Amino acid sequence: MSSKKIEPLEAVSDIKFLDQTLRPSRWNEYIGQKNIKENLRILLSAAKERSHPPEHILFYGPPGLGKTTLAHLIAKETGSQMKITSGPAIERVGDLASIITNLSPGDILFIDEIHRLNKTIEEVLYPAMESGTLDIIIGKGPSARTLQLDLPPFTLIAATTKIALISSPLRSRFSGGIFRLDFYTEGEIGEILSRSSKILEVPINKDAIEEISKRSRFTPRTANYLLKRSRDFAQVHKRKLDKKTVEEALTLLGIDKEGLSHSDRQILETLIHKFAGGPVGLNTLAAALSEEEATIEEFNEPYLIQIGFLERTPRGRTVTRLGYKHSGVNAKKTNPQEKLL
Ligand code: ADE
Repeated sequence: MSSKKIEPLEAVSDIKFLDQTLRPSRWNEYIGQKNIKENLRILLSAAKERSHPPEHILFYGPPGLGKTTLAHLIAKETGSQMKITSGPAIERVGDLASIITNLSPGDILFIDEIHRLNKTIEEVLYPAMESGTLDIIIGKGPSARTLQLDLPPFTLIAATTKIALISSPLRSRFSGGIFRLDFYTEGEIGEILSRSSKILEVPINKDAIEEISKRSRFTPRTANYLLKRSRDFAQVHKRKLDKKTVEEALTLLGIDKEGLSHSDRQILETLIHKFAGGPVGLNTLAAALSEEEATIEEFNEPYLIQIGFLERTPRGRTVTRLGYKHSGVNAKKTNPQEKLL
């Protein structure tokens, strides 16, 4: 395994840069999330009128819905520099201290995956967010002393896929607002795809856009990924990018009509065949699939729940009647608890 240390300020993974050319650089290009945009517009213009950096903001929601993009747009709107890091990249208090003491007045600090920040470091953030000071303990034991540094005014924008893991003292310090990004509608995904196909200069017809939209998990990052892969398929096979080409390209990628990937189907099938449809705990399910709990919980489940194929109950995960139907299995035959569904 590679032991290369992630530099705290270069922490956002490569995959997120994949869609950078497609990322909207102006508010009017950002489709969807209407309520969040309106709230941010008010927050940002009020802060501008007071000549003060906006207060700290937290975005949460499943991956790929545009949390980082919103942070970039806020930086652009306020004319600020944005420094980007992530929870797991800040390993020691010193990493955080070095990042925030190097901020210039009005800068934005973006911390992705803030739920993975360790507790001791989180506590250093509290005074930094609340009163603009950094308290550093120097030395150990009875001779330890606290050094207090004044910080330049800055805005913290944080993102998380797991809001439940954000402690309440940390939550309460996001005084600018805590915003949940919702899944997009198929129509919004269609608009995003039309825009992306123009940027990529790929001629694509309306039916093909609709077909990609249906299989995009209501998620812009997935939509743009499927568009690029369909474009590759059309290019290699010297075909037009129409509905049939999209169907073939996406079937080859293992993406089915409902947008489920191989791993989504495996989750449903494992639940059905090994656990009689559930309920089963996340750890047992992850072990049966040899998969990380976090991947199942943060990536697969939100969409399976959104389309009504899976339920999270206090006793564990359960496949719904719709989930059974999609897997082509008769719920009555395999699941003795069918009446509970
Ligand atoms: N690309 C990713 N997210 C987007 C959005 N919300 N609007 C337009 N393009 C996007």
